[in-house]
Amino acid sequence: MNSATERDEMRRRFFDQAAEDWECRNYPPETRRRTEDLIAELEIAEGMTILDAGCGRGILIPMLRERAGPRARLIALDSSASMLAGVADKDSRALALHARAEHIPLLDDYVDMVVCFSAFPHFSDHPAAVREFHRVLKPGGTAHVLHLASRETINRHHDMHHAVHGDHMPDESAMRAMFAGAGFIAVVLREDADRYCFSARKNGRLT
Ligand SMILES: C[S@@+](CC[C@H](N)C(=O)[O-])C[C@H]1O[C@@H](n2cnc3c(N)ncnc32)[C@H](O)[C@@H]1O
Repeated sequence: MNSATERDEMRRRFFDQAAEDWECRNYPPETRRRTEDLIAELEIAEGMTILDAGCGRGILIPMLRERAGPRARLIALDSSASMLAGVADKDSRALALHARAEHIPLLDDYVDMVVCFSAFPHFSDHPAAVREFHRVLKPGGTAHVLHLASRETINRHHDMHHAVHGDHMPDESAMRAMFAGAGFIAVVLREDADRYCFSARKNGRLT
């Protein structure tokens, strides 16, 4: 195994082992409320097809369902099977995909929105994941990389844990270059101490 594959494997084991009590440990009511506020800022329309990339136990799924309605197609993707197992309990209609963000098993131009919450730094090949976000989005669709802290805080937090040490959020210029390189336009970053929201659009109009 090369070192990138070993790191991926270590990360996958870490998230598999963390899955069972993930929500109790990471989503007390106040954090859940802040997450809802973050999702409320997205332009989600009734009936959208939305991909949650790096969904974990599916914390976002009920929030996305509430906003996109009963007809929406929600797709939850994660590389950890134990994490993904939490999704069915939350929403039996959501599609759970056991896959990596770098190889998304969806057709081209399939989803209206990609949401990637607290997961992007853990993807081992950021440019490949961004290219996949662009490929699976319909023209006019949007991708959103979201966190409940600033980039600096996220990076410091990951460096405190052996399994995710070095899983960093790239800086703004690297993110802009990566998304522009994949073909995205209208890139916007809003960041303060309590949140990081990077958004970009695939050229065209949603139909
Ligand atoms: C910090 S957790 C966040 C999970 C969820 N979004 C949440 O906020 O509860 C990061 C998630 O990314 C997943 N992950 C890591 N690398 C991945 C990859 N290459 N492709 C898909 N998911 C990945 C992990 O298995 C884990 O569930």
